[in-house]
Amino acid sequence: MDIKPLSNVCGAEVIGFDCGCTIDDATLTQLQQALVDHCVLVFRDQSLTPDQHKAFSVRWGPLKGHLLRQYLMPGHDHVLVISNKKDESGKPVGIEDAGRYWHTDVSYEDVPPMGSLLYGLEVPETGGDTMFANQYRAYESLPPDLKDRVATLRARHRFNYVQIQESATSSRVPLTDEQKAELVGSVHPVVRTHPESGRKALYVNPGFTEALVDVDETEGQILLDKLFDHATDPAVIYRHSWQPHDLVFWDNRCLMHHATPYPETAVRHMHRTTVEGTIPV
Ligand code: SIN
Repeated sequence: MDIKPLSNVCGAEVIGFDCGCTIDDATLTQLQQALVDHCVLVFRDQSLTPDQHKAFSVRWGPLKGHLLRQYLMPGHDHVLVISNKKDESGKPVGIEDAGRYWHTDVSYEDVPPMGSLLYGLEVPETGGDTMFANQYRAYESLPPDLKDRVATLRARHRFNYVQIQESATSSRVPLTDEQKAELVGSVHPVVRTHPESGRKALYVNPGFTEALVDVDETEGQILLDKLFDHATDPAVIYRHSWQPHDLVFWDNRCLMHHATPYPETAVRHMHRTTVEGTIPV
């Protein structure tokens, strides 16, 4: 197994490894270290059933379900379908427009996932890339006064699903009342310490962070806008162009990501698992 960096920002390709086979503890340790070092791991040419995808993912920890239960794969509660395919009745089989904005997966829950593993079964020839923004780099390069100002601040995160679903272009299903009641949000530190690397990373994102707490609303919005601008600077971004059968594993504790559009005539069909994390501190 070789680990080849894909950019000088983050991302590495793991060469010569089959994610469908049983992993011994020594290999797991090597992969865990590679994820800590590179934040995004790309495994090319994988051939994974949903069970194999889950079996590989669960080596990092228990799997999480998703609030959007309508888009979990039937018979596989821990596999979220991200797809623009339709079934025979014309109903979307997955979320078509998932993550088309900068976000960190499920940051609106008290215990957000440590990582996500997205498997591209069918991908467009052009477009549909996923961008990753390295939030260690973003934190480390903050102007000193802004770094000091946000050092101990906290932010409120919430999933604005209803707003997304009601937008003119969305094909998403409405939530049940029970699901709406789950949209309570959570509060996390603006700067978190990665539990494995010990490094600090920014932990706010335009998709789900709605406000700073303990800060005047106007100042809070100005600070958040500055942080979002800084955290998505091209200098901290790795852009992944998908090849069919890529499995991409990213670390949600130090990255934001953003899915990009693709031609309507193309098919993009993917399965995603997420692994439980820890309370951000
Ligand atoms: C996501 O936010 O998990 C979706 C990313 C993608 O479809 O590229």
